[in-house]
Amino acid sequence: MTVLITGGAGFIGTNFVYYMLEKHSDYRIVCLDSLTYAGNFSSLKTAAENPRFAFYKTDITDKKAVCEVFEREKPEIVINFAAESHVDRSIENPEIFLRTNIIGTQVMMDACLKYGAKRFHQVSTDEVYGDLPLDRPDLLFTETTPIRTSSPYSASKASADLLVGAYVRTFGLPATISRCSNNYGPYQFPEKLIPLMIVNALADKPLPVYGKGLNVRDWLYVEDHCRAIDLIVHNGTVGEIYNIGGHNEMRNIDIVKLICEKLGKPESLITYVTDRKGHDMRYAIDATKIHEELGWLPETRFAEGIEKTISWYLDNNDWLQTIINGDYKDYYDKMYGESLKKAEEKLCT
Ligand code: NAD
Ligand code: DAU
Repeated sequence: MTVLITGGAGFIGTNFVYYMLEKHSDYRIVCLDSLTYAGNFSSLKTAAENPRFAFYKTDITDKKAVCEVFEREKPEIVINFAAESHVDRSIENPEIFLRTNIIGTQVMMDACLKYGAKRFHQVSTDEVYGDLPLDRPDLLFTETTPIRTSSPYSASKASADLLVGAYVRTFGLPATISRCSNNYGPYQFPEKLIPLMIVNALADKPLPVYGKGLNVRDWLYVEDHCRAIDLIVHNGTVGEIYNIGGHNEMRNIDIVKLICEKLGKPESLITYVTDRKGHDMRYAIDATKIHEELGWLPETRFAEGIEKTISWYLDNNDWLQTIINGDYKDYYDKMYGESLKKAEEKLCT
């Protein structure tokens, strides 16, 4: 069995590559990734030593290059993780999000049809459902919750989902979609909340919390997401959407305070900054369908997952330094420079 994973050099893709190499000892795992700022080949260096692994530096919007990989590898299962994934960047510059997340998905699906892949799986997000109010804890996203997007990122992911549905119905593409809540764990790029707070706290830098920090996310340890996708591509029903979530709603401010506590850093590092435009208030997933149909449940409790995640960042300082000394520095200064200037000065005096 050959499984093609796009975006395998990113956060969830890397975790999935390792999960699949270990879980299916007879599978060949082929990774296709254009290595954008978020892709890091060094994350895959152990995988690259495995004869069952192959890597292609390829853009999913490049039809010719994608077809060459299919021609050569003939994948039976194709899982599309590749995406522009950061909401804040989509607010700064939506264009690349439309190209990669929508056109890239179309190119991958056309290749699946042309070369007869047995399954295409689209890794989508709970953000396609918009947000939920804080004062209605009884409300959760189900697979039938209407699409109501807030950011260019979520709109691009929702557009891709609609295209997948159209390819199933019109062309008979054997496809499935999963919509997962916020992941955390090893190899996450430090533009995202949890690694950003770990990195800044370790350097005694201000911890930028948007608005009042009351927004709620439903956190899932990345390995649980990997297990869910593996189940869907093998046992899920073609044409179906599966929600995946952690049953673990937490306010941003509580996560940041917990990270301070775990790292022995003072809460005075916390700095409230201007809120994200269009900031979604609360995400919460109802994962009943995947539980009842495929027997999936999250296995890693947050208390354990956050310990493992913090330890991973402490143990992988070289990986981290390479990232934060590269283009990330420019992004960070542009994104946070002005709003954190005063807090930085205060910490220095
Ligand atoms: P990431 O940003 O860490 O990684 C994205 C990867 O895709 C990178 O390796 C990048 O190089 C690659 N890529 C980007 N554009 C490409 C292109 N045009 N061609 C080929 N490769 C390209 O993202 P992530 O957090 O690992 O998310 C993976 C997928 O899961 C995304 O589709 C995202 O929408 C979805 N998702 C993420 C989360 C989360 O919490 N991180 C939750 C639910 C769903
Ligand atoms: O829900 C799934 C989604 O989760 C995925 O589809 C996205 O790819 C992934 O990036 C993530 O989106 P969020 O916007 O929820 O994640 P992020 O880590 O950017 O932010 C989490 C929360 O923390 C959000 O409410 C914004 C807030 N935040 C974030 C950053 C980076 C801050 O308060 N300060 C920050 O500096």
